[in-house]
Amino acid sequence: VTIYCVTPTYWRYVQKAELVRVYQTLTLASFKVDIKWIVVEDSEHKTDLVSNLLKRIDNEGAHFQYVHLNAKTPPFQKLKGKDPRWKKHRGVEQRNAALKWIRDNVSSHGTKKIVYFMDDDNTYDVKLFEELTKIENVGVWPVGLVGGLNIETPILDPKTGKVASYKSGWKPDRPFAIDMAGFGINVDLILSNPEAVFSYRMEKGFQESQFLAYFTTKDQLEPLASNCTEVYVWHTRTEKPDVKGIVPGYEV
Ligand code: UGA
Ligand code: MN
Repeated sequence: VTIYCVTPTYWRYVQKAELVRVYQTLTLASFKVDIKWIVVEDSEHKTDLVSNLLKRIDNEGAHFQYVHLNAKTPPFQKLKGKDPRWKKHRGVEQRNAALKWIRDNVSSHGTKKIVYFMDDDNTYDVKLFEELTKIENVGVWPVGLVGGLNIETPILDPKTGKVASYKSGWKPDRPFAIDMAGFGINVDLILSNPEAVFSYRMEKGFQESQFLAYFTTKDQLEPLASNCTEVYVWHTRTEKPDVKGIVPGYEV
């Protein structure tokens, strides 16, 4: 099984710190699971900061490969200074670039391949990657610290063991009330549904739900993480640092 981890990323002071965390998580995960990291920069050009970090994967002998892409969010879709973050979709352009790369470069032959949308700021337990290998079509699990709750999770019907509903801090009646960090998809489904992409036309907060609707139905979801009783990913957010001065000569 190969896990394709798709990470949109953009410049801000904490970018390098976030990416180092994700890189080291994937290094640990790659001891047990075959990992391919697709890093998609929200930028006109690939930056030295991200290129230098990815070079460490080669130089430090990590057991996984990466793909470095860039796709800039159009300016009219970008958050401005004090905009609340729900105002605009984030990661749309970048995840679509990764989906295109997968459709152009990955075939459905051979071993199983799974796509996971791995934002750069969340916190991941390496156990999550073993769960990802169990996915047949679409797998789901709880996500910690999201939507104003300690966790969001699919709720299983105790009789059938299937997903019956969702515990979610926001619109639990969405067809799939699941954060981006809370599901993984078989590449075969990505390849057989070429029209499935993220879109700015999707309703705010419905990206995940509308994307999943291309591939599956609620009763087909595969509950993982011990029937959705374990938390292996947290929707953490890093505080914006108050940088008042710049010491020259450092790539931070
Ligand atoms: C929540 C979800 O967890 C995201 O997966 C979803 O994209 C987002 O809401 C949404 O509704 O658009 P949140 O923590 O608010 O996430 O979003 P961010 O972590 O700020 O952004 C998600 C990803 O997009 C991150 O990997 C981030 O680095 C990237 N991003 C963000 C960009 O590439 N460009 C940006 O301008 C902003
Ligand atoms: Mn986030």
